[in-house]
Amino acid sequence: MKKLLLDVDTGIDDAIGIILAAKRAEVVGITTVNGNTSLDNATVNTLKVLKLIGREDIPVVRGADRPLLREPHFEVSVHGDDGIGGALKRMEIGEASPGFGPDFIIEQAEKHGGELTLVLTAPLTNMALAIRKEPRLKDWLKEVIIMGGAVRVPGNITPTAEYNMYIDPEAAKIVLHSGLPVKLVGLDVTEQTLLTGSEIERMQGNPEGQFVKDSTGGYMKRYEEITGLHACAMHDPFAVGVAIDPSFAWTERLHVDVETNSDLCDGQTVADFSNWTGKEPNIDVCLEADSERFIEYLVETIRL
Ligand code: BDR
Ligand code: CA
Repeated sequence: MKKLLLDVDTGIDDAIGIILAAKRAEVVGITTVNGNTSLDNATVNTLKVLKLIGREDIPVVRGADRPLLREPHFEVSVHGDDGIGGALKRMEIGEASPGFGPDFIIEQAEKHGGELTLVLTAPLTNMALAIRKEPRLKDWLKEVIIMGGAVRVPGNITPTAEYNMYIDPEAAKIVLHSGLPVKLVGLDVTEQTLLTGSEIERMQGNPEGQFVKDSTGGYMKRYEEITGLHACAMHDPFAVGVAIDPSFAWTERLHVDVETNSDLCDGQTVADFSNWTGKEPNIDVCLEADSERFIEYLVETIRL
């Protein structure tokens, strides 16, 4: 079983990613960060999802409550006021574990030396803080999977930027240039990895399936307004899937940078397909996905 540490801003699709990871991998812990919703909401939502699946043994550690330099920007229209579309409203939960997310990432990376894969499905603030504090992270981590960026397709928060990159581009720059073994799972592959109403019906039969149904109602509606499709993108679950089974996506190694200084293009991930920059490729970028097989795997997993 793969050993994973998740960094999340739970978020509807983060929540589904957490369920997938907990059922199919060994999750050593989860760090939370400001993003789709506030750090408080993201932490509460993570604790609720773990309680729902009976996995309160997985430690949840709070991280950064804002981007490195910029103001938070919550995605209420997609994820609702609470971050998970109003699902699990009445659930009582315990406390998060003590500590600070970036320190927990460092501790776990050292402890599991060479065996741990990080899956980052949120703005990269926690990871950037961890890298700044502990340069040896790159010797300790097996792989870093990032849900973020868009190299061949338009953005989903501005014409050019994907949300996680846009919220904290300064943090993203630190992570992309860190020398860590990074795989980018961006909109190029996640926007074609769609969960439809009929697949949600096939997930029914346990509390996890009910949660997917309850949390995705508004998300589907918003997605339908934008794309015309009655479906929603499984951004974060797909990143978890690629961490567990890399054959869900095909990658190309490219030089990738992120824009931090432009009114129009902040947060845009720029991949150098034609070697214009002459810079060494630094990132494995997912360009094609076996979305159909992944969605089947997700439906089966939720039913487990
Ligand atoms: C990413 O942004 C968030 O809204 C989702 O949870 C996902 O991590 C997609 O751009
Ligand atoms: Ca997310």
